[in-house]
Order: sequence, then structure tokens, then C-alpha cells
Amino acid sequence: MKILILCTGNSCRSQMAQGFLQSLDKNIQVFSAGTEPAKQINSKAVQAMLELGIDISKQIPKHVDQFRNETWDYVITVCGGANETCPAFFGTVKNRLHIGFEDPSDAVGTEEFIRNEFRRVRDEIKIEFDKFYLKNLKFAIINPENLKLIVKKKYSEIALQSKEKTESSCCGVESSCCGVDYTIFSESYEKIQGYNSEADLGLGCGIPTTYAKINKGNTVIDLGSGAGNDCFVARAIVGDEGKVIGLDMTEAMIKKAVENADKLGFDNVHFLLGEIEKMPVSDNIADVVISNCVLNLVPDKQKAFAEIYRVLKCQGHFSISDIVLNGKLPSSTLKEAEMYAGCVSGAIQKDEYLSLVQKSGFINIAVQKEKQIIIPDEILLNYITNDELIEFKKSNAGIFSINVYAEKP
Ligand SMILES: C[S@@+](CC[C@H](N)C(=O)[O-])C[C@H]1O[C@@H](n2cnc3c(N)ncnc32)[C@H](O)[C@@H]1O
Repeated sequence: MKILILCTGNSCRSQMAQGFLQSLDKNIQVFSAGTEPAKQINSKAVQAMLELGIDISKQIPKHVDQFRNETWDYVITVCGGANETCPAFFGTVKNRLHIGFEDPSDAVGTEEFIRNEFRRVRDEIKIEFDKFYLKNLKFAIINPENLKLIVKKKYSEIALQSKEKTESSCCGVESSCCGVDYTIFSESYEKIQGYNSEADLGLGCGIPTTYAKINKGNTVIDLGSGAGNDCFVARAIVGDEGKVIGLDMTEAMIKKAVENADKLGFDNVHFLLGEIEKMPVSDNIADVVISNCVLNLVPDKQKAFAEIYRVLKCQGHFSISDIVLNGKLPSSTLKEAEMYAGCVSGAIQKDEYLSLVQKSGFINIAVQKEKQIIIPDEILLNYITNDELIEFKKSNAGIFSINVYAEKP
């Protein structure tokens, strides 16, 4: 991830922005430059940043021409006053943004007043670049370890808030992104036997129990069981003689699911706290494994399928609803889809998904259902041009919800 921040003199605002962004993640390559670079970085900007523990004293003003032949993920202009013209940048740029700030070095008055102006602009830069980082970068540079923490945090928030609020789409991974509608993929369970509306947080992307060939008396494991929606539907099929185990790594979800099971008075539906990649259950115990819109969130999908294989009895099977991609989607489209609907950033290509299932030893693999997820044009056009949209539509590439079935030999 390469980011260039531009201003005229490259002596304070762009330097402070560079300092903040770099302090948020050392894996991003952040540079700043100007069209008329000053001889040295502004000492008051250095001082203001030091007050927040960020040392930018080693940064030096550079001319923008130095960076023209490179490819940039983001070029961000930060000049703001009416008397300023933002530098035009003609290099290869995937995303352009303007976040304007007043120039504190224009401040006239006492030394104290000028220092406070630097602090004011510094704080504004910090707020805006924190927001930019959370909204645009975190997904793109995430690694498997913190991905799980993010997923847990997101689903804790969802578990703790009301269903109405989830549907009004203002939960967000970082609690700051409004507009994420986690219910966009979900289907209506209203007419399904065993349905319990309190357990349905609208987080699924299919109805796996419909295709799962569950029989009375079966033992069923639901991976990423959330508030227990599919577990209670499975319970209606397995009856009193069967057993249902819901597994989820988010404590708040397990708590909610247990409360729901208690209200329903079931003693053969159990919820376990744990990770799919290392299930706290013995080998060969399940007749059927189901899951609804979860494996797309698991960074190591190979491990997840290996675990599913382990816990299934011989001749047992799974039926899983999930999100996959087909064809090459522009990266900005994926990011926008994630902001719009969640559950997309960890999704992999459908072919790769099915190949992982096969490599894990499963047989009789079948896609039982497939449905394209349509992101409205007006949303996509925020990030791609009209021509790119037409190309994208012609390409047949897209985001799909699928239901995959396979058997353990
Ligand atoms: C999109 S929600 C789906 C919840 C539920 N299946 C439903 O349809 O309502 C994803 C759930 O999977 C859980 N989850 C995600 N990754 C997991 C993992 N690696 N191990 C266990 N649970 C996981 C989350 O905590 C969350 O409750």
C-alpha cells in the first residue's frame, strides 16, 4: 500500500499527515511532497507532533516530480485555504482524495497563538487521517491475526445491539462506519419450521438447513452459529433424539444463543465457545455440519475444511452457505462492497473454494444453490468510473452467495 500526500510547501500539513498515517501502521509506505518544497520542515509542526509522541523531525520536504513515475494506491491533497491551489498530480494513481486543512503557518499573532494554531490543525489532521485509515486501509492491509480480532469485535457489537439496529445498518467494524448493511445477503426464515426470530440477526447468506439432508436423531454442528438461528431450525428436524452443537468464537454471540436456547427449553442444543480452525469437539461425532455465512470470515479456510473433515463421521456430510467471488473484481469494488454489505473482504474465488474442499478429502461435492449479489450502480459509481462499471458488468465477474455440499468418504 503506497500513499502520497501532497501540499504546496511540504513543510507542515502534509508532513504531519505523513507522520500520523505512518504511526498507525508501519506496513504502509507513506510519502509526502510539494510543488514548491520548503528548505526544511516547519519546526512548530515538529514540536506539535512531538507533543503527541510522534517524531517527524527526520522528514524532509521533497519535490513532487520525484514521485511522478511511480504507481500510487492513494494520492491525497491536503491544502485548504482559498488562496491555495492544490498540486495536480499526473502519475499512475488508483485513488485520489482531497482532505483540506488551513495552513497554520499563515497564523499571525503571539507565539502562543501560533503554537495553538499548529495544535488545532494537527488535531484536525489526526481526526481526518484516523478516519481515512479505518475506512480505506485497514481492510486492505489486514493480517490473519488481527482480522480475527476485528471479526470478533464486529460480531460482539452486533450481538449486543438490537436486531432493528443491525438492520438499520449502523454497526460497522470500527463503530465508525455507517452504511454497512450486514443483512443484505440474508434470506427470509419466516416460514421455516423451528424458526425463532430472536435468534435471527439477519447475518446469514442462505438457508443451509434446507439443503443439508438432516434426519431425525442426527448430530448436527453449526459453525459460526451466531445467536443460534440455524441451530434451532436444525433442532426442529433432529427432534428430541438428536443433538445440535453451535460453535462460535464470539462470547457475546454464545451468550445470546444460550439465552435463546434456555427460553425455548431445549436440552439437546448446546453452544460452545471456540474457533472453527480448532474445534473443541472430538473426532467423528457429527452426521451433518452446517454453516451460514461464516467461512468467508475465516482466514485459514484450508484448516477450517480439515477440521470439518475431522469432526464428521464417515459418510457424514456438510452443507454450507457462504460468499464467494467469481472473476476479477476491481479492488475498489470489493472495498466498497465490504463497506456496503460486510462479509466480502475475506471471500475467495469460487473455484479456489471448491478446490480447497476437494483437497481436504471430501467427495460428491456439489453447489446446491448460487445467487449473485447485486451492489447498486450508484454505490459502485462512488469508486469506479462509468466506463469501468460497463466493463465490470460485461465481464460477468461478481459476488455470489452459494450453498456447497460435500461428503466425507
Ligand atoms: C455472519 S455471522 C453469521 C452468524 C450465523 N451463522 C447466522 O447466520 O446468523 C458470522 C459468525 O461467525 C462467527 N465466526 C467468525 N469467524 C469464526 C471462527 N473462525 N470461528 C468461530 N466462529 C467464527 C462470528 O463470531 C459470527 O457470530
